[in-house]
Amino acid sequence: MYKKLIRPFLFLMDPEKVHHLSFKLIRFTNKFGGTRIFGKPITDKKLERTVFGIKFPNPVGLAAGFDKDAKLYHELSNFGFGFIEIGTVTPRPQPGNEKPRLFRLKEDEAVINRMGFNNGGVQEAVNRLKNNKHSQTPVIIGGNIGKNKDTPNEKASEDYLTCFDALYDYVDYFVVNVSSPNTPNLRALQEKEPLMKLLNLLQKRNDAHATNKQRKPILLKIAPDLTNSQLLDIIEIVQETKIDGVIATNTTISREGLKSANKNETGGLSGKPLTKRATEVIRFLAEKSNKSFPIIGVGGIHNAADALEKLKAGADLIQLYTGFIYEGPQLIRSINKEILKNENS
Ligand SMILES: Cc1cc2nc3c(=O)[nH]c(=O)nc-3n(C[C@H](O)[C@H](O)[C@H](O)COP(=O)(O)O)c2cc1C
Repeated sequence: MYKKLIRPFLFLMDPEKVHHLSFKLIRFTNKFGGTRIFGKPITDKKLERTVFGIKFPNPVGLAAGFDKDAKLYHELSNFGFGFIEIGTVTPRPQPGNEKPRLFRLKEDEAVINRMGFNNGGVQEAVNRLKNNKHSQTPVIIGGNIGKNKDTPNEKASEDYLTCFDALYDYVDYFVVNVSSPNTPNLRALQEKEPLMKLLNLLQKRNDAHATNKQRKPILLKIAPDLTNSQLLDIIEIVQETKIDGVIATNTTISREGLKSANKNETGGLSGKPLTKRATEVIRFLAEKSNKSFPIIGVGGIHNAADALEKLKAGADLIQLYTGFIYEGPQLIRSINKEILKNENS
């Protein structure tokens, strides 16, 4: 249905325009109960997962970047996602990079983006989360936080703390994004010293917020381009700062093996060409840490087999973005169906 009828039409248009159009279509479809045309979401006790203290209805989530401003998470959850990650949000609104900044690499089943954290600012997201008319049917929401482009790295922690404080009461878990390739110098924050400092500050703030409440899990989102020695550092950092887990991975700056004409656009590459590397990173982290913290696996999941491979490599939960664009909403159902089949066999 999606691949035969909807995708050919959408793929004729500029990718960023399609993104905005799809928001309108999803909202419209949702209003009339039409999300079911993609199949009824699978609900089953055997799909439930309790990870970092949160009970997820199923392990398939929507990755950050699709619903940056918390505009559509409820409607998206009706497709059957077990959780939705909003953001990356920054303290102040910012327009992001100049357009065009989103490219479809059709032959490679991939996307290159250099959006540059375009978002309406954390307060706008908070207002939407606060006033959400669907709050009686809650969805598990992750808050992915970052820094503004014009904030120097020495002051980055102030930006992360601002977003953390603002979102604290409105999201279920946090993701510290230091791995986007589209904010100059951001990835330098993945180095041991600045990262330890940032995560320790966030943990302290977490304890302060949580005096009478449960603390909020904090995860770190990492790039697939880290070396093994940097990944070993990440394990040490997670263990020392006692954060709750890792999201592996963000987009890659590698361009290995691509065929599409626009393969040399600057930005982060996602989709099929990332599948293998993201899985390698998950496996490395799981093995070298003796599976001592939860991992959310993301990167190039385009079918149920890709999802199972990530889970087998050590992921506790998985997320999709580019696969959702190429395969459509049915992908969520087909992955959950396969996970269930595996559980039963
Ligand atoms: C257009 C686009 C925008 C993205 N924006 C963000 C973002 O704001 N924050 C973030 O942490 N990841 C962002 N990502 C990365 C995804 O969350 C995901 O980690 C990556 O695309 C790999 O998964 P995929 O191959 O399933 O797309 C973005 C990805 C795309 C394609």
